[in-house]
Amino acid sequence: MRSLPFSQSCENNKGPILEVLKTVFADCSGVLEIASGTGQHATWFAGHMAFLRWQPTEVPEAIDILRPRCDEYQGSNLLAPLALDVSKRPWQVGPLPDALFTANSLHIMPWSAVCELFAELAENAPQGMLLAVYGPFNYGGQYTSDSNADFDQWLAQRSPHSAIRDFEKVDALAIDAGFALQEDKAMPANNRLLVWRRR
Ligand SMILES: C[S@@+](CC[C@H](N)C(=O)[O-])C[C@H]1O[C@@H](n2cnc3c(N)ncnc32)[C@H](O)[C@@H]1O
Repeated sequence: MRSLPFSQSCENNKGPILEVLKTVFADCSGVLEIASGTGQHATWFAGHMAFLRWQPTEVPEAIDILRPRCDEYQGSNLLAPLALDVSKRPWQVGPLPDALFTANSLHIMPWSAVCELFAELAENAPQGMLLAVYGPFNYGGQYTSDSNADFDQWLAQRSPHSAIRDFEKVDALAIDAGFALQEDKAMPANNRLLVWRRR
């Protein structure tokens, strides 16, 4: 048996995230996932929400990490992974579905890429589209925990472009792109699940 790319944090958070997404995405039919990583989220969520067509994506240089787990998925509602770097617009992923999910990506990609993500949504997101974003955020310019402060320091050492984002700045991008916040849910390990809907 070959071993698949694995992330322990994905394994820990996929259950709690699923519990929220089952309600949030209940009336959706398709999800574009940005920055799918190892595919643990894509395969878990597609497997537990058979009513969704789940489209995993990754930057071209990381798509070989995503593909193996997706290849092993038993079912027809997980689409073949697509290459997508959100900063390379226009996105080549076809018409956007009625939902978008991304986990632990906004603090990794450069802020300019976060802006491009919302610029693309401003142009192409369908009315009513749900946007669910999981990860750590700062509020009022403050860390929400000591562990997030440590994590941010670690991110800065790893890349000058990575940083925990301010909720207010991301929300401002979402508002400019025509989205309104629906939910800001506290999740385990000082993470949040933010949900916006396009007006
Ligand atoms: C910490 S990993 C998170 C992976 C997975 N979503 C998870 O929760 O385990 C951050 C991901 O962001 C992706 N990423 C970085 N820059 C990106 C960009 N410009 N466009 C799309 N994805 C990007 C990386 O390739 C990486 O897979």
